[in-house]
Amino acid sequence: MVDKPFAEYAQRNAAPILEVLRHELRGHADVLEIGSGTGQHAIRFAAKLTHVQWQTSDLDENHEGIRSWIAEAGLPNVHGPLALDVTSAGVSDNSYDAIYSSNTAHIMGPNAVVAMFGLVGRALRRDGRFLLYGPFRRAGQFNTQSNAEFDANLRSRDPSMGIRDLDELDKLGAENGLRRINLYAVPSNNLVAVWQKTQGSAQ
Ligand SMILES: C[S@@+](CC[C@H](N)C(=O)[O-])C[C@H]1O[C@@H](n2cnc3c(N)ncnc32)[C@H](O)[C@@H]1O
Repeated sequence: MVDKPFAEYAQRNAAPILEVLRHELRGHADVLEIGSGTGQHAIRFAAKLTHVQWQTSDLDENHEGIRSWIAEAGLPNVHGPLALDVTSAGVSDNSYDAIYSSNTAHIMGPNAVVAMFGLVGRALRRDGRFLLYGPFRRAGQFNTQSNAEFDANLRSRDPSMGIRDLDELDKLGAENGLRRINLYAVPSNNLVAVWQKTQGSAQ
């Protein structure tokens, strides 16, 4: 067993995100998390949302850490990580009531973001919800100077990374049968955007 990985920001943002999940996931039982990272969110949320089956996933390199959090928590409703790279993985169509992802869209390259919305459109059941947490631009504008600086920092590390524009994500959503139904402002100038699948399967 490895020492559990720990991200300070994932500890800080968990409480406000949980309040959104409590509201949005009423009656939504099967949840897939894309990019579970350390695994902290999965444990924190599954412990409180006991009506939910929480399926973790990430690239292989993060699996050991996610498993260590899951093993320690011993929760019956959180499940060991699927190997899921959104650019290549297949997830069964219409298999989840909700998909949650935190701080992934600005880390993935644009092609992966497109692939993620395609995957979400296929994998959600009708009326299922996609909840995406992170920093966003709107109409090309950053909501704060600190997010503009964060974006510049990301792009200097890797030009394919960067804060995504919510209008562009809405277009990607529409192409995949997803309509944005809610937007929550949460601390640290971040948002939780919620899309709902409006069709039985992505067209
Ligand atoms: C900044 S971390 C966020 C982790 C966690 N969700 C959190 O909020 O603490 C970004 C995550 O996206 C995952 N990721 C990056 N590219 C991905 C891809 N193509 N498919 C699936 N996950 C990916 C990384 O492995 C990493 O776990």
